Amino acid sequence: MAAPSDGGATAASASSSILNLSSITENPVFAGGLGLASIGAAAAYARRGFISGAGLLKRRMLVNVEISRQDPSYPWILAWLSEPRPVQGFIASRITRIHNLSITTTTTSLAPSAAAAQGAPTSASFFLQPGYGRHVVLFNGRYIAIDREKHSTANMNTGEPHEVVTLTTLWSNRHVFEDVFMEAHSLAAKAHEGKTIVYSAARALDWLPLGEPRKKRPLGSVVLDEGVKDRIVDDVKDFLERQEWYVDRGIPYRRGYLLYGPPGSGKSSFIQALAGELDYSVAMINLSEMGMTDDRLAYLLTKLPKRTILLLEDADAAFVNRRQKDADGYSGAAVTFSGLLNALDGVAAGEERIAFLTTNHIDRLDPALIRPGRVDMMCHIGEATKYQAAQMWDRFYGDMDEGGKNRERFVKRLDELGLFGEAHRRGPKRHTSTAAIQGLFLFNKNDMEGAIDMAEGLIPKTFEPEDEGTAVQQQDGARTTPPPL
Ligand SMILES: Nc1ncnc2c1ncn2[C@@H]1O[C@H](COP(=O)(O)OP(=O)(O)O)[C@@H](O)[C@H]1O
Ligand SMILES: [Mg+2]
Repeated sequence: MAAPSDGGATAASASSSILNLSSITENPVFAGGLGLASIGAAAAYARRGFISGAGLLKRRMLVNVEISRQDPSYPWILAWLSEPRPVQGFIASRITRIHNLSITTTTTSLAPSAAAAQGAPTSASFFLQPGYGRHVVLFNGRYIAIDREKHSTANMNTGEPHEVVTLTTLWSNRHVFEDVFMEAHSLAAKAHEGKTIVYSAARALDWLPLGEPRKKRPLGSVVLDEGVKDRIVDDVKDFLERQEWYVDRGIPYRRGYLLYGPPGSGKSSFIQALAGELDYSVAMINLSEMGMTDDRLAYLLTKLPKRTILLLEDADAAFVNRRQKDADGYSGAAVTFSGLLNALDGVAAGEERIAFLTTNHIDRLDPALIRPGRVDMMCHIGEATKYQAAQMWDRFYGDMDEGGKNRERFVKRLDELGLFGEAHRRGPKRHTSTAAIQGLFLFNKNDMEGAIDMAEGLIPKTFEPEDEGTAVQQQDGARTTPPPL
């Protein structure tokens, strides 16, 4: 029986010899240090607990909405923030004061008369927005904390720094965000009322608005040949009403139009006016543009902004032989025919889309393009016709030309000059463009006689090489002909 008790004693002495706890606790200096350390640890622990508790409470009680600069609602929210909101009450008005502002300035040039009155050729309008930092807004009786931050990273495509706006409110108030976004959106819609936004992807890799939204161009201001405009407008409107029909049948909801004809016949203007009429934006790609490749085109089409008409200008660029470089070493656009077809009805093509293609060279297009889902409708927008010349006259001089007598004279004059392409004239067929007629009328504002007198100027000028024979001779002489002996 002694052996186990002995063993226990040795074990106890061994443990005390290793740890020697009693000597530590009995040492007053060390015991004090241990006490302090444990108080410190407890405090740190409590602090951490408090922080995580506060974090938990914050997460439980608050809601955040983060909006990055890339989101379409970003500018709307900033504009919403700058709306004046008179706040009642001393404390509320102090809390919601905005101390950091940033500014956006737009300048517009003034008409000379207005410029003289103001003493400056341009007028500037300043748009103040809440700057970076924290702000508090009282909206519908709820406080919302706003944090606008600029990150140190930047968008690789545009070089612009990443930015986010975070809205925070109490969990119980979270439904206020719906009202915020609704109001911000309707403010933005109001600001763009009567305007057409034109997007382009010329410089960046993404769609960017090309300048400020422009005033809508009235459809009536584009004069196409009789019935052409109605035919296209009716077709587009009909298409827009048939979404369900397409969805029910599992057909991609797309329609394509091809407008072809000489330059200056109003193709681009018509598409812009049509977008205005439908309250759509225009997303424009020039297929002959340098740096436009199949990949880029496909990428852009997947990111097409909502409610936009896709406008592919110079569609023939995808068909020219681009092996030959021109004198500047520019080998033309890099969009291929298959790239264009993919863009129109391949995987890259969006589910919902209205596309307009324009070309000045219909003969260069491939018939494979004209297929439902690619191009459903083709329209020739040609040189000015009698009908168009008369309509344009009325738009410019209608209110001063009583009974339309001068209009008749003008049209007759153009006819005499053989500008409507009728073959009974001597010499080659002649045409003039609607753009040229517009130019003539702009030059002769309020001056009908002037317009008629100058109608001859509508005859297209052909620039023939000066004195061809001598030019060639000189060239030859310079290059190859040996000097006479
Ligand atoms: N049919 C037309 N009706 C009204 N304006 C026209 C018409 N055709 C050309 N214009 C005017 O001529 C200019 C060039 O027209 P644009 O639409 O760019 O022609 P296109 O795209 O066919 O080359 C614009 O300023 C436009 O207002
Ligand atoms: Mg054009």
